[in-house]
This record gives sequence, C-alpha cells and structure tokens, in this order.
Amino acid sequence: MTRRTAIATVASIAALQLKADTPAATLPPLGYATDALEPFIDAQTMEIHHDKHHKAYVNNLNKALAGNPELAAKPLDQLLKNLADVPEPIRNAVRNNGGGHANHSLFWQTLAKGKGPAKGKLRAAINKSFGGQSALEDKLKSTGLTIFGSGWVWLIPDGGDGLTIETSPNQDSPLMRGRAPLFGIDVWEHAYYLKYQNRRADYLAAFVNVINWDFASQRFEEISK
Ligand SMILES: [Fe+2]
Repeated sequence: MTRRTAIATVASIAALQLKADTPAATLPPLGYATDALEPFIDAQTMEIHHDKHHKAYVNNLNKALAGNPELAAKPLDQLLKNLADVPEPIRNAVRNNGGGHANHSLFWQTLAKGKGPAKGKLRAAINKSFGGQSALEDKLKSTGLTIFGSGWVWLIPDGGDGLTIETSPNQDSPLMRGRAPLFGIDVWEHAYYLKYQNRRADYLAAFVNVINWDFASQRFEEISK
C-alpha cells in the first residue's frame, strides 16, 4: 500500500470504526431529511434505503460477529481489508454486511443538492484524469450502466494527483483492496426502483445532481495532503 493510500484508508474510515469498547456496528444517522434530495431521489426511497436496507447490514454484521469479540473490536476497514483472517463460516456474511455497512455509511455523507462542481485540488485532478467535470459525470453514468446486477461505481484517488473510476459487485468495497473512495454510486435496484423502476440510466442522470462535491473536494484534500 502506498503512503497516500494508507492515509486515504485511515481518513475515510474514521467515522466507521467499530469502537473497541462497544464491539458492535451502529447505524449512523442520515444527517438530513429524507426529502432533501427530491426530486432526484425520493423521500420514500431514502427512508427505506437507510432505515431498512442499511439497518439490515448493520444487524447482520453484528449477528455474524457475535461470537467473535476480537474481530468485532477491529476497525471496519481493517476487518474488510483482511477478510482472509475471518473464519470461513462467517466470512461471506462479514464481506456482504460489513461491505454494505461501510459503503452506505460513506454514501449518506456524499449526497447533497447544489454542491458542485468540484473545487481546488479535486477540480484539477478531474481535469487531468477526465478532461473536465461534465466528462467525468458522463463517465460515471456510462460506467454505472455496465454493471450487471447489483454493485457500485467508485471515484477513487489513484495515489498520485489523479483519479480512477472503478466498479465493485454486490457490497464489495474498495476498502477490501486497501483503497479509499471519494464516493460511490449505489446501483442496487433498492437505491432507485421505487421512482425509476428499471430505468437505471434515468437514475444515474439524476444522481449526478446530488453528489456533494464540497464533501468530495474536502475529502480529496485530506487524502492527498
Ligand atoms: Fe444501497
């Protein structure tokens, strides 16, 4: 792992750690009203997504780790990065639910209306890697359409002064590869089906309006210090 990647991992996960004195994952609050992203993402989807889907990942992660206090006390990024150390009978449950918990904990923080385009160092990185903000947004949208079934699109610092777009299936997280994303786009149907049904392209076109570029810009500054 490069120094920058290591810093990125630490910076990304500070809010996600399973506390050593309370060996249990908890559902973080959404941090804003469920209708804050209307009309791009509807209130009912946000409510069910956070209160039901994310909560289920948290509950199932805790259930999987119930007999393993040492594992439960580990920071979540370390748990996900070292899945080979997790006993085989619970490894898949930890992968799916720990990944789901980490991915969604970041996801809520990266959503807001009217917070764009990217600023400062992130803006320069976007220009360098993609040729500009709208070209990046087009690439995020087209990449989201390539995912078969459920998964995520990620914007990830490349360890230098650029960025890469990567995807992961299911609830796999870049943290499992020791990488810290700036943000991810959830392309599970649970993220959009109530409003967009099978029209993932429409969801992705709407989604680029609710990326919190202020948050991403600040996060990139911290990661690339
Ligand atoms: Fe989701």
